[in-house]
Order: sequence, then C-alpha cells, then structure tokens
Amino acid sequence: MATIRGTDVEIPLPPRKLRLMGESEEAFVEAGVLLAELLYRLGLEDGHELIDVGCSVGRLPIGLLAGTDFRGRYVGFDVMRRQVMWAKRNLSPVAGRLHFRHVDVRNDRYNPGGTVEPAEVRFPARDEGFHMASLFSIFTHFYKEDIALYLRELRRVLRPGGTVVATWFLYDDDRLEAAVASEAYPMTHRLDDVTIYNDADDPLRAIAFHEDAVRAMVADAGLELVDVERGRWAGGPGPLFQDIVVLRRT
Ligand SMILES: C[S@@+](CC[C@H](N)C(=O)[O-])C[C@H]1O[C@@H](n2cnc3c(N)ncnc32)[C@H](O)[C@@H]1O
Repeated sequence: MATIRGTDVEIPLPPRKLRLMGESEEAFVEAGVLLAELLYRLGLEDGHELIDVGCSVGRLPIGLLAGTDFRGRYVGFDVMRRQVMWAKRNLSPVAGRLHFRHVDVRNDRYNPGGTVEPAEVRFPARDEGFHMASLFSIFTHFYKEDIALYLRELRRVLRPGGTVVATWFLYDDDRLEAAVASEAYPMTHRLDDVTIYNDADDPLRAIAFHEDAVRAMVADAGLELVDVERGRWAGGPGPLFQDIVVLRRT
C-alpha cells in the first residue's frame, strides 16, 4: 500500500502479474521512489512537464506521487497495451495530471506484432513541450537504429535546455571484459562492431553499446551528452544497476 506523499490518498498498485519482475508491492514502490528521486537530483522540479518513454504500468509516476511533491504534467507511453490501460484506468483518476498513451510500435521483445515501424514513430507529444524525458530500461532493449530514431524524437519534444535521463548498458575498451563477465547479463554475443548482447535467442533481453557509438548518435540527434554515471551491471558501485546517461537539448 502507498499513499500520495503528505496525504491519506491511496495510490492504486498494479496486480503482481503486471509488475515488471513480479516483485512485492513494497519493492515495486521503493524502486519507483528511487527513480523519482533520481530525476529530482538531475533537475526535475515540482511543476515541470515530464515525458516517460516506455512507462509500462507507471512505476515512475507511482514513485513521484509516493516520494516527491511532483505536481507537474506527466505523459507516459508504452507499446504494451494492458499495462498502459491499467495505468490510465487506475492512476489518472487519482492524479488528473498523469496521462498515459498506448503506441503500437514494433519491438521484437515487447511488441513483436506492433503495427507501427520504429521509423514511423512519432511520440504522442507536441514539439518543445517538456522539461525532461525519462527512459528507464528502454535503450537496454533497443537496437541502435531504433535508439537513433528515438533520440530525434526526444530532441523534438524537449524544450531548449531540456534534459533526457536514460539508462543504458555502455561499455568501452576498458570495460569490455567486465561486460562479458557481468554476473546478471554476461554480454557474450556480438552483433556488430559496437553492439554486444546477453541472450543468443533474444538479443533485446539485454543489449550493450560502445560508449563512443552512443556519443556519436547523441551528437547526430542534436543533443549534448552531459554525464554518464556507471551502474553496477558490469561490477563496481553505482546508484542504479544500469548506467545513467544525462543528455541536454541545446
Ligand atoms: C524493462 S521495461 C521498463 C518499464 C518502465 N520504464 C519502468 O522502469 O518501470 C521496458 C519497457 O519498454 C517498453 N518498450 C519497448 N519498446 C518500446 C518502444 N518502441 N516505445 C516505447 N516503449 C517501449 C516495453 O513495453 C516495457 O514496458
């Protein structure tokens, strides 16, 4: 059970089968609050407009309601219809400023039957509308061509000076050995010069990119890479399991 911070208003929580890892309610809310606090540390403010790419059942907005005073406008979209519909039916009524949209984009792992090709994607959002965009565990399940398309859309929907907070699995020449030896996702398969992945039968289960290639894609999209905070996935300490990348729309 969770409540909107500072009130007795209960926040509905998704049934276990719709939660990402089938984790306990407590762990689910705790993870959402951790992500919400991370966004605040990286510049989110109470009244901002936030777009959450790949929102699923709304773990992040639940964390924003439970753990922060976020009172701004939130738009989340995802390719998984049941998850988005749950969020729309259950979360929007407790906080009318939370909006959820289903987009039927094809993704080999999450939405193989999607009717919209990634190349045709247009985020359900107006130009230059948002202060911040979040992508938690999204580019860790995307081919690099699709990342490039999404980076261009991110540039379109962010205000000048706006921020992208995205998690990634990144490696470089020094970190390659640790990436291949990762305890959770040993990246033992290679797709091309800059892409390695974990599962031979399901490349999008966990996919990692050379940091130089990501830097080049970010620059091509007209965004500036501000910071990389390494995560714990390839050993070592870190605020999250995945790497956190902060981009700015110039
Ligand atoms: C590992 S989950 C993370 C969900 C959420 N960001 C969170 O942290 O709770 C990855 C999400 O990406 C979504 N996804 C996959 N392809 C997508 C696409 N092309 N556009 C938007 N979301 C996508 C999946 O449906 C899934 O909900």
